[in-house]
Amino acid sequence: MYCIKKITNDLTWIGANDRRLAMFEGVYSVPYGVSYNSYLLKDEKTVLFDTVDKAVQQRFMENVSETLGDRKLDYIVVQHVEPDHSAALKELMLRYPGAKIVCNAKIQLFIKQFYDLDIASRAHIVKENDTLNTGKHTLHFVMAPMVHWPEVMVTYDSTDKILFSADAFGCFGALNGALFADEVDFAKDYMDEARRYYTNIVGKYGPQVQTLLNKASALTIDMICPLHGFVWRKNIEDIVSKYALWSSYEPEEYGVMIAYASVYGNTENAAEILSCRLRDNGIKTVMFDVSVTPASEIVSAAFRWSHLVFASTTYNAGIFVTMEALINDLAAHNIQNRTAAVIENGSWAAASGNLICDILKKCKNINIIENKISIKSSLKTEQLAEIDSMANEIIATFPKSAAAVSKSDDRPVVPNTVESGTMFKLTYGLFVLTAKDGEKDNGCIINTAAQITSSPMRISITVNKANLTHDMILKTSEFNISILTESTPFRIFEQFGFRSGKEVEKFDGCGYDVRTANGIRYVPEYTNGIISAKVTESYDYGTHTLFIAELTQAFTLSDVPSVSYQYYFDHIKPKPQPQKEKKKGFICKVCGYVYEGETLPEDFICPLCKHGAEDFEPI
Ligand code: FEO
Repeated sequence: MYCIKKITNDLTWIGANDRRLAMFEGVYSVPYGVSYNSYLLKDEKTVLFDTVDKAVQQRFMENVSETLGDRKLDYIVVQHVEPDHSAALKELMLRYPGAKIVCNAKIQLFIKQFYDLDIASRAHIVKENDTLNTGKHTLHFVMAPMVHWPEVMVTYDSTDKILFSADAFGCFGALNGALFADEVDFAKDYMDEARRYYTNIVGKYGPQVQTLLNKASALTIDMICPLHGFVWRKNIEDIVSKYALWSSYEPEEYGVMIAYASVYGNTENAAEILSCRLRDNGIKTVMFDVSVTPASEIVSAAFRWSHLVFASTTYNAGIFVTMEALINDLAAHNIQNRTAAVIENGSWAAASGNLICDILKKCKNINIIENKISIKSSLKTEQLAEIDSMANEIIATFPKSAAAVSKSDDRPVVPNTVESGTMFKLTYGLFVLTAKDGEKDNGCIINTAAQITSSPMRISITVNKANLTHDMILKTSEFNISILTESTPFRIFEQFGFRSGKEVEKFDGCGYDVRTANGIRYVPEYTNGIISAKVTESYDYGTHTLFIAELTQAFTLSDVPSVSYQYYFDHIKPKPQPQKEKKKGFICKVCGYVYEGETLPEDFICPLCKHGAEDFEPI
């Protein structure tokens, strides 16, 4: 039986999910399954975008047939020939012999390589910026070489402002009945899988992804339809900004990823002690046993964290097998811009440390902590100082705000002043405070909500007088508090903070209108609890008013931890990106390979696609 989902009046998702696949591409575990997305546009002409993997071909054919109804299929746009998207092409061409195959020249070549198909007589070849008018819709074809293969192109429907993005912006995980990213808690439940998908599938091709992002930035995009995972119709910047970060090889968070390979637990022991020392100093750490955790998860973590520690025993006079595979995998994925440290173990001829460093030195901009630790069989008391020293060297490379101040026996001189920064050490939460005055709904961000008594249930809030919400509460004596969680994206703070309700409608475009019994709106996303209260007293404190209020309603929405002010600064508020030196070089127009340098040798041959210098253009 067909299983389809309507996206717009003209566009339908006709893909399918696979939860039986053990290894995607034979190498990446997919414990939550994977979706193969295909889309059918019904305009004056009908257009199908890509097909699916052979594992779900039968369902896909039912979906095509149901969606087309009595219409004929006019075009099949092939954006990517990897068989997880093209396996059903042959069957589709047999069933719909009148359909033209819209593709670029390289796609045509790859189809011929993979399948015994007469493609030439049915191909409609397109190049960069070519268009296809289907009636109401105009499709624009944009080449995206190496995102993820050299033949890849994406398609922009300028009528509905939809980007059909091929593998880009995809995600592992079956869709489980949802189709849109805003139907799930993407940040909490799917971002890790999106990162694992990106880093492992196209992590190597950051410059090519940036080229596509640059092209996309010139377009108005209301929706992104990728070939795997969810369709993006809201908060598109959430995923685009992650792609911008990942493709720049800059870390997402300050912290240390420790990967260890240990045969009898002694190398693990050293890694664990180092992790403890770092934690004691307020540094975040994550640990992976490389013989247990799939490499794709560790590659993904390496793209996330700023610092990497590799601890490996020596094996066959080399690096332990699973660690060697991981280090080579990271180098193959172009990991760069990290600080790394190495611990080696060897009972008679330790060798793994230098060999790991040799591979890391070939990666761009990896700052390797000079003193590696070398263990003979097991860590001894005398070597604890070396662990401390490595921890200190790592901590020294953290910015001050990310690392706790190192401990010292020296008694500090305590200044007899009031430092306003000390107030930030209080454990503030962050909340959306909402109110209603007549037809006007409004909200702002506050960090000052606290319980005063439990019988009766009373709270206090302090609100800046410059806020419209302040005036509304003063007039109506009622308000709601939506308690924000650690999964709150920065855009929620932008939506309710940084701008005045006197100039904008704070709830515009939020897609929900939910209210408590007092008729005041609340925020149902990225919140774990809602409180309604009625003001009993108010006190004027110059710039702010302190409101004391009794609870009239309260309910819990989730168990996601509440966000603290500190967490917001450390993990949510975007960090300024260092200005990067603009690269000089040439990019291959065929596959996107980047040659760095002032001039391109005339006889240069692209190492990826083997095209000559004439197919390169300056960056
Ligand atoms: Fe989902 Fe590159 O194929």
